[in-house]
Amino acid sequence: MKSSPKDENKSSIMQISLSNGQILRLAQVKEGDTVYYVPEESLFVKKIPRKRDVAFYNPKQSFNRDVSVCAIEVFLEKYHQTPHVTRACEPLCATGIRGIRYLLETRLQEVTMTDLNPVAIKIATFNLSYLETTLTNLKKKVILQRAEASRTLLTNAINFQRFCITDIDPFGSPSPFLYPAILATEPKGLIAVTATDTAPLTGVYPHALFKKYLASMIGRVTFYNELALRRVITYAMRIGFLLGIAMVPVLSFAIDHYFRVFFIKSFKKNVEDLVSDIGFLLHCKQCLYTEIWKKFESPPAAQLQCSYCNASLLMLGPLYLGSIQNRDFINETIRIAEERTLTQKERVLKYLHLLKQETTLNLPWYYDLHHLASYLQTSAPSTVTILTELEQQGYTAIRTHCSPTAIKTNAPIKVLHSIVLRGKALENNA
Ligand SMILES: C[S@@+](CC[C@H](N)C(=O)[O-])C[C@H]1O[C@@H](n2cnc3c(N)ncnc32)[C@H](O)[C@@H]1O
Ligand SMILES: [Zn+2]
Repeated sequence: MKSSPKDENKSSIMQISLSNGQILRLAQVKEGDTVYYVPEESLFVKKIPRKRDVAFYNPKQSFNRDVSVCAIEVFLEKYHQTPHVTRACEPLCATGIRGIRYLLETRLQEVTMTDLNPVAIKIATFNLSYLETTLTNLKKKVILQRAEASRTLLTNAINFQRFCITDIDPFGSPSPFLYPAILATEPKGLIAVTATDTAPLTGVYPHALFKKYLASMIGRVTFYNELALRRVITYAMRIGFLLGIAMVPVLSFAIDHYFRVFFIKSFKKNVEDLVSDIGFLLHCKQCLYTEIWKKFESPPAAQLQCSYCNASLLMLGPLYLGSIQNRDFINETIRIAEERTLTQKERVLKYLHLLKQETTLNLPWYYDLHHLASYLQTSAPSTVTILTELEQQGYTAIRTHCSPTAIKTNAPIKVLHSIVLRGKALENNA
């Protein structure tokens, strides 16, 4: 690795030579409090970066990294109590910006980072050398290797070198890495998981959904983002159940083109609590009537017919229907986010507040107002109008972070229908 003397702007552009003789231009970016060099071309790609890119860096994912920095700081400050050195593992690290941000922006003491792509490791190595010029001993806190992710995790698990934080941030589905990630994380540790395969998860490809998440092959429904998020959570929980471990979600969100969940690996006794929250949703795709079915027998045929519009109900699940946020954890994450330099601070805080509000009504689905308006052959009223009217009628009604045109409410569907039908009149009277 070497920087070229021909750099036109030494501080913002660097060049490294790759093993095939190719020169790779690196551009300086600042994320949070961390200055880092990433492939220059990744800053100009308009669409989502692809697997065949020279090494993966997605500027838009700074939101994910910002939230993760805050969540990890909360975990280390408030939840993690072992006396030994705090170690995290990012086994799919790409350029390494995530793991290095955790090290530089939280109280984490050591990070292990691996990637299969040799160019990614070369870029991370370049950054470590660059950062060490101002941060002494940084290299001693980073274990960086070209290695396969599951192998990294399993080797550490077998050698009783388990991590207090494991972050699985792959291309597409995290499924292949969950079992080794759970094994490689110490009890009460934090496991963060990203899933970017939105098409299978939201039911666009039901066969892929079954293959990757063992979920029933059911196509898209209107609350697809929440359903997909819960599919990721349910799958991770089921892998935990096989090992007698409870994967308790403390912070979960669907945003842009991905899903992100932070789990705390918990004691066996929590397994039964989670299992008791596994069930099904009986859902009408037309009028959006939805109910929870938690019994261990199939519903009678009559119950699989919508009592409002007579359409057949879909049976979605098995699905984790319990809480996917921990209010205290979110409050603390908000506190840290307010204090920190973050790349997407305003957006991070906006979403964290939406997630906090969602803890006031644990409803594992939401109602899309545009769909309801079209079903009822009316024009869609504003979300605010509907929320206000529901509250005036004594119901709980909140927004969902999953969609700006959807709401959650404990009002019966008939009440919601009648308010949507009167929506424009309510707006005119306001
Ligand atoms: C989405 S990128 C990681 C992005 C990174 N975490 C970040 O925040 O910038 C996924 C990375 O996983 C690497 N990868 C894919 N399969 C792998 C495997 N089985 N073992 C190790 N690395 C792998 C790819 O080379 C790629 O760099
Ligand atoms: Zn119906």
